[in-house]
Amino acid sequence: MNSESEVLILGSGAAGLSAALRLAQNGHRVLVVSKGTLASGSTLWAQGGISAVLDENDSLESHVRDTLVAGAGLCDERAVRFTVERGPECIRWLIEQGVVFTQEEGEERGQRLHLTREGGHSHRRVVHAADATGHAVETTLASLAANHPNIRVREQSVAVNLIVDHAQRRVIGAYLLDRNSGRIDAVPAKAVILATGGANQVYLYSTNPHGASGDGIAMAWRAGCRVANMEFMQFHPTCLYHPQSRSFLISEALRGEGAVLKLPGGERFMPRFDPRAELAPRDIVARAIDHEIKRLGIRHVWLDISHKPADFVRSHFPSIHQHCLRLGIDITREPIPVVPAAHYTCGGVVTDLRGRTDVTGLYAAGEVACTGLHGANRIASNSLLECLAFAEAAAADLHAELPHLPGPRALEPWDASRVSDSDEDVVISHNWLELRTFMWDYVGIVRTTKRLLRAQHRVDLLKREIIEFYRHYRISPDLVELRNLVTVAELIVRSALTRRESRGLHYTLDHPQTDPVAQPTILTPG
Ligand code: FAD
Ligand code: SIN
Repeated sequence: MNSESEVLILGSGAAGLSAALRLAQNGHRVLVVSKGTLASGSTLWAQGGISAVLDENDSLESHVRDTLVAGAGLCDERAVRFTVERGPECIRWLIEQGVVFTQEEGEERGQRLHLTREGGHSHRRVVHAADATGHAVETTLASLAANHPNIRVREQSVAVNLIVDHAQRRVIGAYLLDRNSGRIDAVPAKAVILATGGANQVYLYSTNPHGASGDGIAMAWRAGCRVANMEFMQFHPTCLYHPQSRSFLISEALRGEGAVLKLPGGERFMPRFDPRAELAPRDIVARAIDHEIKRLGIRHVWLDISHKPADFVRSHFPSIHQHCLRLGIDITREPIPVVPAAHYTCGGVVTDLRGRTDVTGLYAAGEVACTGLHGANRIASNSLLECLAFAEAAAADLHAELPHLPGPRALEPWDASRVSDSDEDVVISHNWLELRTFMWDYVGIVRTTKRLLRAQHRVDLLKREIIEFYRHYRISPDLVELRNLVTVAELIVRSALTRRESRGLHYTLDHPQTDPVAQPTILTPG
């Protein structure tokens, strides 16, 4: 078994792969685990880009300010400065790895990166590869990782639990379930980096891939780590509304380049809600759309970029143009039907600026983590930047720490002696749907205490049933994810009930005021 790998990295998105490459390039041996293929996760689907201060008219101070404003007073300013300052180096590093970003047109072609604009940013500062930035980043890093002699890869392998030496409060490995054989291995490591992404599949409608089930957050919670700010689940304002394409994002960069939101009669409504109109932070735009949809009893609103030259639209947004065209929507000539959908988990496992969690040897980077960067609402394109900045920080800390950490040791094998095969897998699919449906209905964009208490009651019932199932039957990847989703749902609802104010993404009709002092919601495992 991969006992010679020093560091076990759970997850192979931007955070996992960049941590792996940074460590491997420094001579460390790592094992990268993905529950899907190596190139998978939300990173592969990212569209708009990566924010970084690269224009001489822009400044780090301005990026810091925009991030703090979008975060509605809850960001940790140290984490914001730390991340923003690393932006230019992270982009340089990606270019060195071979990622090709879109260049300026005309005379400046080949001289300067094209920078696009997104909501909440006061300058153009989003580096991108047309409208498929994540694909460019993920496939480049995955191909480097797959060919690096210090990196081993284990695909289709689901991390079930972290293995912790509780006496020393130190992580010593993880149990990995192989999708193909059903075997569960205990894999030892000197250190573990959680890079498992977000939890947005806890909602019925989401822009995320299926695997965004909060596994890392739930595993860290079970291992004894604090989890923070889970009430701040971000809904992206513009997910395509189409029966044949349920999770397709229409990038905020369209609004950055001039697209406007309209009602069925053609009226533009965002100026009524915020002077920044379509480029207000996401929480405001998503809430405005939700308000209009409920007020008018309509199924979606329209996003229109057809007033821009067709060549411009096709060249800036080739993937979105093609995807919509295949569904019969020509975005150069007609508006796009859009609705908000769950998109990003602002909260997560509490880390410091080195990516360290509460358990020694356990790090978290990327969407799984709560570093303090996003506060109550993430500004667009700061997520990929956070993945890169904190993966680098964790790798640098490990580079210094690894020589002093005890070597991997023999572990207890997984005990499957008291379980049998389930003949009722319908329980898993039923509970999965039920959970995601009531989370959407009761813990969505606009909340009330009554709805949250309803959700809490249902979470408690489901949790009991799922734990019972987990104890008695042989586990499957679906059961692992469902167990994690119910844990994450519990953390979201508990956090939302704790916050007796409205701030950023957490808006409740029972407490519409914003308190003068912002406090994070930090939950500690009991
Ligand atoms: P991910 O990229 O989600 O990767 C998670 C990895 O963990 C995967 O490899 C998965 O297989 C693995 N994994 C999960 N659980 C387990 C387990 N139990 N065992 C083993 N492996 C596991 N952000 C931006 O900054 N700019 C954008 O333009 C942008 N656009 C977006 C567009 C879309 C459609 C979406 C969904 C998100 C977008 N985001 C964007 C957000 C951003 O893409 C994500 O926050 C970021 O990619 C997360 O990266 P990550 O490395 O933390 O996790
Ligand atoms: C988008 O392209 O709209 C997504 C950007 C992000 O989530 O940061």
